[in-house]
Amino acid sequence: MVSPTISDAIRTMPKAELHLHIEGTLEPELAYELADRNNIQLPFSGLDDLRQRYKFTNLQSFLDLYYQLMSVLRTADDFRDLVLAYMAKANEAGVVRSEIFFDPQVHVENGLDIDTVLDGLLSGMILGRERYGISSGLIPCIVRDKPVESAAQIVESLAHRSDELLGLGLDSAELGYPPQLFSDVFDRARDLGLHLVAHAGEEGPADYVKQAIYDLKVERIDHGIRSVEDLELLEILKERNIPLTCCPLSNLKLQVVNKLSELPLQQLITSGVQLTINSDDPAYFGGYIADNFDALADIGFTLSQLARMGENSLRAAFWGETERDNMLKQFALWEQSHQALLQ
Ligand code: ADE
Ligand code: ZN
Repeated sequence: MVSPTISDAIRTMPKAELHLHIEGTLEPELAYELADRNNIQLPFSGLDDLRQRYKFTNLQSFLDLYYQLMSVLRTADDFRDLVLAYMAKANEAGVVRSEIFFDPQVHVENGLDIDTVLDGLLSGMILGRERYGISSGLIPCIVRDKPVESAAQIVESLAHRSDELLGLGLDSAELGYPPQLFSDVFDRARDLGLHLVAHAGEEGPADYVKQAIYDLKVERIDHGIRSVEDLELLEILKERNIPLTCCPLSNLKLQVVNKLSELPLQQLITSGVQLTINSDDPAYFGGYIADNFDALADIGFTLSQLARMGENSLRAAFWGETERDNMLKQFALWEQSHQALLQ
């Protein structure tokens, strides 16, 4: 177990969370509270029964429960409260910047107006800034196992509020849904001035990471751990300075690896790839961002290695130069005050 000193240092280190699905922060208690508020009958016999279901064998087995529970989100207040609950946890974990994913196609299919979703999320983000000083941005994700036309439609329905969005992402079931399917959709998002990211190389092959880079022209890769299977790709990630947003506890829970030490993180670092550490869907995977850092400390990562990943996250975030520079200064102060632990 990581020592209290290291754990405290991890929690005070200023960091950006760059891979976080807001629907994946829905804790079972809040799911029940929202279901009650919205007169929705959940198909479980109670909280304990629901908690029993948080055992996953692969990405799809998680996605089934994740999409099912999303049905409790009905109003702008629900989305605001979800964001606020996350912000409180993120604040305790030392998050100063959060770039938040959500799945608009699912909410629209559940009968919600896209503006209700955006209004709720954005009001939670404003309150998060006021209460905790956390800067944030919104990244809608294309649900890649839905038809390409649905992806194109959702981007059009978001276009009128593109100035309130940070980027466009690509998530959901990876295998069989290669990034290149969505190249026109991502072209449109780029024309709207959005940053581009995509999940690739989580369960899918290294070639999907290449497609995300060449066909979608993404600036960051979400997960990307299977990039180690292609030495040429490692060189591309390094040369183009394309960071990976890694999520160790997610990979463990979804059985991408059997134990954390099987993750190729050291190999990626040695290859010169910029890694960041993130929580993905913390309510489902047993830990928020600082718990992911703790888990790496437990398998032998030093505080200075973890600090590099924290610093990488501040550099890889899509924020203005002034905000980034201010936070890097704050990060340098944290380093100074933890020098003894960073030897
Ligand atoms: N949606 C939420 N979490 C995801 C993950 N880890 N991979 C793909 N899609 C997701
Ligand atoms: Zn994810």
